Amino acid sequence: FAVHLVSFFFSKLQEDPTKKVDRFLYAMRLHDDQLKDISARFQAEMKKGLSSESNAAAAVKMLPTHVRSTPDGTEKGQFLALDLGGSKFKVLQVKVREGMGIKRGGVEMEERTYPIPKELLIGKGTELFGHVSESLKDFLHQRNISLEKKHPLAFTFSFPCEQTALDQGFLLDWGKNYRPRGLQGKDVVQTLREAIDRTGGLDVEVLAMVNDTVATMMTCGFDDEYCEVGLIIGTGTNACYMEELRHIDLVEGDEGRMCVNTEWGGFGDDDSLNDYITEFDRDVDAASNNPGKQIFEKMISGMYLGELVRLVVLKMAKLGLLFDGRVSDALRTKGKITTAHVAAMEEYKNGLKNTKDILTELDLNPTSDDCIAVQHVSTIVSFRSSNLAAAGLAAILSRIKQNRNLRSLRITVGVDGTVYKTHPQYPKRLHKVVRRLLPECHVRFVLSDSGSSKGAALVSAVAQRLASQRRQ
Ligand code: GLC
Repeated sequence: FAVHLVSFFFSKLQEDPTKKVDRFLYAMRLHDDQLKDISARFQAEMKKGLSSESNAAAAVKMLPTHVRSTPDGTEKGQFLALDLGGSKFKVLQVKVREGMGIKRGGVEMEERTYPIPKELLIGKGTELFGHVSESLKDFLHQRNISLEKKHPLAFTFSFPCEQTALDQGFLLDWGKNYRPRGLQGKDVVQTLREAIDRTGGLDVEVLAMVNDTVATMMTCGFDDEYCEVGLIIGTGTNACYMEELRHIDLVEGDEGRMCVNTEWGGFGDDDSLNDYITEFDRDVDAASNNPGKQIFEKMISGMYLGELVRLVVLKMAKLGLLFDGRVSDALRTKGKITTAHVAAMEEYKNGLKNTKDILTELDLNPTSDDCIAVQHVSTIVSFRSSNLAAAGLAAILSRIKQNRNLRSLRITVGVDGTVYKTHPQYPKRLHKVVRRLLPECHVRFVLSDSGSSKGAALVSAVAQRLASQRRQ
């Protein structure tokens, strides 16, 4: 008995610091049954969004995009493109060459990032669009692009819009860190055209506006005919996929397919995820620009992951579970832990050292056990993010499989977004869980690098191809 007692105390003293984190964050560690449950709930939300009876009140909006075809490789042309709403605002020139595929140089692009002054994010919407068109003009000057002929322009706009055509979309809501006034309910393409007219001296024609998920799917689809899903895990998160037109009540017609922008970030806005939401999610939501909205997004995307980690670490410190109960002002400050920090903490070799540096920067004096524990917090938070994204994706993939009455499905998912691209373990974890949840699907993931920028041009190219086929 004495021996047992000694070994009990010894093991207590030496307890692996990750264990206390596991206990503290048990609600964030989702097992497969829970992920399947979340996936089933998301499937039900998709149905609600697609049906005309329930669409108005649906949390997952399932917006028709008017993109009816993925590329077939025969598209060609030269386009200007704008990409607004991701981590950076970019202006691009995209050249699409017929039949070569992206890897063999079929899509070439030159881009320039233009910073957006902070005040424009919360100012008048028309001023933000003024900045967009001035940047476009600057780009044309810088690149010596002549205005002798009219330039077709494609617009990636990463916010929810109710589209009535490829070149008409009414803004439903801003999100992420954008809050300009006066554009909600307005046609974004029209607003852009007016801004371009006001800037003057530009001969461009806005052909198409697309969500970044759609652009990502199209870019990847130029090389891979099986790419029928687009996924973004960046500042925000969202997914789109090719749905049967007969299931999209809001659009006339039954033949063929149309890409649906799910706007899955809104999953949970109607309280349907309440039993999975932790006190940290509630705090992140309460302190956000848009409380009560984009609940799923706030559990997954890059704008919030660092903040979730900070809130957990702060609470654990206050409870005496970290840093001997000491808390610094920096740790109390919103935004001090970013998603880049989360990625650094989970780096393969240097993760622990990075964690120590990050905590020291926050005026904390971590022991090595503290570092191990905080690294583990970061792992649990980012793992939950990839698990939730996997549950959403599994719902979409199994819906496509059911739609097509298939026993097994071969499909490719095009992915873009800073979290997916920069977090060292994220892609691997996401792929693994999707494959575990859907053993009967052969899922290929393709990093659609800059897909969200290039793809708008491809949407325009497809539209031009279809129009010229119709004319013939
Ligand atoms: C937000 C937007 C959505 C976009 C996503 C990724 O969720 O509402 O339209 O696709 O962020 O950028």
